Amino acid sequence: MRKKVSVIGAGNVGATCAQRIGEKGYADVVLVDIVEGMPQGKALDLQQCGPILGSDARFVGANSYQETANSDVVVITSGVARKPGMSRDDLLLTNKKIVQQVTESVVQASPNCIIIVVSNPLDAMAQLALHVSKFPRHRVLGMSGILDTARYRAFLALELNVSMQDVTAFVLGGHGDTMVPLPRLSTAGGIPVTELLPKDTIDKIVNRTIKGGGEIVALLKTGSAYYAPATAAAEMVDAIVLDKKRILPCAAYLDGEYGIKGVFVGVPVKLGAKGMEQIIQIKLTPEEQAGLEKSAAAVRELIGVMNLGNA
Ligand code: NAI
Ligand code: 2OP
Repeated sequence: MRKKVSVIGAGNVGATCAQRIGEKGYADVVLVDIVEGMPQGKALDLQQCGPILGSDARFVGANSYQETANSDVVVITSGVARKPGMSRDDLLLTNKKIVQQVTESVVQASPNCIIIVVSNPLDAMAQLALHVSKFPRHRVLGMSGILDTARYRAFLALELNVSMQDVTAFVLGGHGDTMVPLPRLSTAGGIPVTELLPKDTIDKIVNRTIKGGGEIVALLKTGSAYYAPATAAAEMVDAIVLDKKRILPCAAYLDGEYGIKGVFVGVPVKLGAKGMEQIIQIKLTPEEQAGLEKSAAAVRELIGVMNLGNA
């Protein structure tokens, strides 16, 4: 029997994520949005890809949560996206209301699901979803590290003129200006990129990665990136539904790992059928540790503004 995945928010990221998941054929997909007719129309359009792709996945569009009942995985993409000049943090209070209400409805319909949060500001919204759902931490994750790492990998592969497939990379920390790309653990064909590129080139790529979302917002002018974000969220769904036990950078609630407690930040996670099955801990240099702590402090600041006592 196919699994059931619901995607809340049928906008750019949500609809593209639904498409990516449906293409795999392992799950039926429910697309939910508040705009009447829109998720239904997109679901119908997506359904009609099936015969071309050879996928039997069923798509349903809805404006309520009945159709999402007993989902195995729920991806939350509902909320507003950035416009030029806005930071992810500028979305905080608007998206807090949306993600809070959505999480309550998701939990009511699917009390055993695994939640993947995509809405921004990502780490704060994941914290909100954990708080509101009251789920154990292994069932609430945030998507950002796969996207940030993919940007880093793509820039490195283009610079080295090698296959994207052969570049692996490592990014820790929150989804924002304080993310911590780690060049010493980023490789091309297993060779650290620090052996292949001069430091100033790596520094430029790291800086472009950190500002990668903003670069696309400035070009699009009406919203933010969605092809790579949706593909990244779908990779998390794959790992969970197919119990792949992938090691992927995800936003996870830390409870003392890396010396950090009580906050979501990006760390390497083993992702499988239970959700977050393990946080992989590695020894960081003092500089990397300081970067991660700075990132956690920035997330804590946003959590303070949300005043979760009221959520
Ligand atoms: P979008 O504007 O295209 O889609 C958002 C959708 O959410 C809209 O269709 C809207 O009607 C819907 N929505 C609003 N309130 C809702 C509610 N209460 N229930 C159900 N649906 C609701 O925006 P896009 O580009 O899809 O981005 C979505 C979110 O994802 C934004 O917050 C964006 O910043 C974030 N994002 C996060 C990334 C990450 O790496 N974590 C990457 C890309 C986007
Ligand atoms: C991005 O990094 C907007 O968070 C989104 O593209």
